[in-house]
Amino acid sequence: MQTRSGVSAKGRYLTEAFPLIPEANALGSADRGCLEMLGGIRLSLEEKSGLIREVEGTPLRVRPTSESDIDYVLEAERNEENRPYVGQWTQEAHVAAIGNGDMAHLILEAPGGRRVGYAILVGIAAADGKLQLQRIVVTEKGEGYGRQALQLLKRMAFSEFGAHRFWLRVRARNQRARRLYLSEGFVEEGTSRDSILVDGRYESIITLSILRQEYRP
Ligand SMILES: CC(C)(COP(=O)(O)OP(=O)(O)OC[C@H]1O[C@@H](n2cnc3c(N)ncnc32)[C@H](O)[C@@H]1OP(=O)(O)O)[C@@H](O)C(=O)NCCC(=O)NCCS
Repeated sequence: MQTRSGVSAKGRYLTEAFPLIPEANALGSADRGCLEMLGGIRLSLEEKSGLIREVEGTPLRVRPTSESDIDYVLEAERNEENRPYVGQWTQEAHVAAIGNGDMAHLILEAPGGRRVGYAILVGIAAADGKLQLQRIVVTEKGEGYGRQALQLLKRMAFSEFGAHRFWLRVRARNQRARRLYLSEGFVEEGTSRDSILVDGRYESIITLSILRQEYRP
């Protein structure tokens, strides 16, 4: 059995043959399918608590999502400001993600512990060096929390999870998110045209990534 660089020191994240999220499963109803396929070791919340991080020089921190945060997460996800841009999961899907050893379900916290968003990483236990930012939602927009969260998540990806490739998908019309990702060093790799059907309308999906050698702390 191998361990992943960066986290292997504590022996916390064991690497086994996990079924990773297939390329087609990033958004919309496909999200539910992907969760059903996910398996592997499960980490307790205590084990995941090692994920709590702060961004140097900024007020934002992340901590693992607990089940008492699920109402907040669902409200954020379903809010009209966010719903057009992110997949819609059930409560059960979020609970399953919290308990999945290959996923990090994270709350973004402002000073004083105020929740300002959440993010989900997939691939933290995998050995292939690919880590996906499955989702990020900021509920207090335009305050810089999205950028701070992304900087923190990049640091976690490369410094702690030993990722080689940190990647994500975004809906093509999501200009705000695309601008943020590009300005944080992500590279647009290509467009899957009309690849998801949302509310009766086809949408194109753009894949972006940043590689370890491109990462600037
Ligand atoms: C996308 C999102 C995470 C960004 O978070 P945020 O806290 O609003 O963003 P920030 O305040 O950190 O701004 C970061 C950058 O986003 C861009 N941005 C912010 N507001 C914008 C707007 N209204 N229009 C276009 N671009 C905008 C700017 O480039 C900004 O950079 P700047 O600081 O140089 O101006 C957040 O708006 C969100 O949750 N959106 C809905 C869900 C979503 O789209 N998630 C991503 C799915 S892939």
